[in-house]
Amino acid sequence: MKNQIEQLKKEKNAVILAHYYAPAEVQEIADYVGDSFYLAKIAKKSNADIIVFCGVYFMGESAKILNPEKKVLMPDITADCPMAHMVTDGIIDEMRKKYDDLAVVCYINSTAALKCQSDVCVTSSNAVNIVKNLPNKNIFFIPDKNLGRFVAEHVSEKNIIINDGCCPIHAKITADQLRTEMDNHPDAKVLSHPECEAEVLELSDYIGSTADIIAYTKNSDVESFIICTEDGVNYKLISDNPDKLFYYPKPHPCCADMKLNTLESVLSVLQKEDREVIVEDTVRTGALVPLEKMLELAK
Ligand code: 13P
Ligand code: SF4
Repeated sequence: MKNQIEQLKKEKNAVILAHYYAPAEVQEIADYVGDSFYLAKIAKKSNADIIVFCGVYFMGESAKILNPEKKVLMPDITADCPMAHMVTDGIIDEMRKKYDDLAVVCYINSTAALKCQSDVCVTSSNAVNIVKNLPNKNIFFIPDKNLGRFVAEHVSEKNIIINDGCCPIHAKITADQLRTEMDNHPDAKVLSHPECEAEVLELSDYIGSTADIIAYTKNSDVESFIICTEDGVNYKLISDNPDKLFYYPKPHPCCADMKLNTLESVLSVLQKEDREVIVEDTVRTGALVPLEKMLELAK
């Protein structure tokens, strides 16, 4: 299958992008593997005719919005992020009426329709910096309450209103599960994604995006880590640090949607080109504005 994928990629001038949460065998055949921010930047720069996005729908959708002239395919078009939809209808308008200087800051894990109603997108690697540098005092942060609270703690000079969505995978990690791992591995450093709940972050030595967590383990002299994020990241962690040990809260945090990306589905979508991301023109132009603003502000 790997040889067939390689062959088709060349024939069709296709590039494969995979998130760190995709299964190991998919990360292995991908041309670019990264977190949401890195992949959005790569999608914007790519010269390929076809982008195969091994992630969840909002990622493929963002790639299409940034590259309307390219064909964006997804191995499984049903791979979706539940958090991307977690904003109540009408609440953005309500907030805009309440505060006249409001900036709606939208985590990239959101539908294109929500992006259309937002001023700027962010990812977990740039959210704090972007919010800090906005001229607005009042910020409505959607959809993730946990990343929103993390940003609010780092930008205390602003009034940050937090929406009630969350990532079901990160939010399921409990402080008790983490304490069990900490008791079993007292020398391990705890590294957590800001999508985790407050009580997990309070117990953590370091909080950062998936890419930040990976960089931390590489640059640290410590030999063991407890990782509070999706377990797909383990592929990169052990390839970068073959002599270090990585533990996860139990049950392992695992995003079933990300795991819909398989070698079989990558090969099949490259053969048939049948699972294409289509974004209607008005939605595309509306969602492009906050996405481009993020790329600009994060420079
Ligand atoms: P990052 O890629 O920004 O770390 O976000 C994690 C995530 O949950 C992606 O869906
Ligand atoms: Fe969405 Fe969470 Fe899965 Fe990321 S890990 S795609 S935020 S459900």
